[in-house]
Amino acid sequence: MKKAGIALYPGSFDPFTFGHLDILERACRIFDHVQVTIARNSEKSGFFPNARRRELILECTQHLDNMSVEVFDGLLADYARSMEAVALVRGLRQVSDFDYEFRMAFANRRLAPEVETVFFMTSERHALISASIVREIHGHGGDISSFVPKPVLQALSST
Ligand code: PNS
Repeated sequence: MKKAGIALYPGSFDPFTFGHLDILERACRIFDHVQVTIARNSEKSGFFPNARRRELILECTQHLDNMSVEVFDGLLADYARSMEAVALVRGLRQVSDFDYEFRMAFANRRLAPEVETVFFMTSERHALISASIVREIHGHGGDISSFVPKPVLQALSST
């Protein structure tokens, strides 16, 4: 039987939410190893520095033993190829995600046809969480404890 291999779970993760954690946990059940790849989205400006995002993801994922977290700045398709990744994992929350995700998946497939993009449908309870909404609510002093794991909550509370 063919093994499931290494998957990359790329994203901005700024900050890492319960929605991200949910997708990651499910990907870890399927792939041999999942690398959370903190990559640069040229359309977004950063809130937490990449190194801090990495620390926080590590703190939130101590219960998972077949994953790692790396920061990467460059073209994801090239990186996936260099890592011999079999898949790129992305979460889908709602219909509005499709257009962006499809364009990205098609572009990555053109650049690295051997790397399959695999979509995980988010759990219902996380369908409305996005990192930008978390930042927005936090910026206005709202309660984000149901959106982000404790280490992220603590880090945001001290900003
Ligand atoms: O969480 P995000 O911001 O939706 O993740 C987007 C991300 C970081 C995965 C995407 O912007 C990306 O892959 N950036 C790395 C540069 C790259 O390869 N861009 C082309 C994507 S088609």
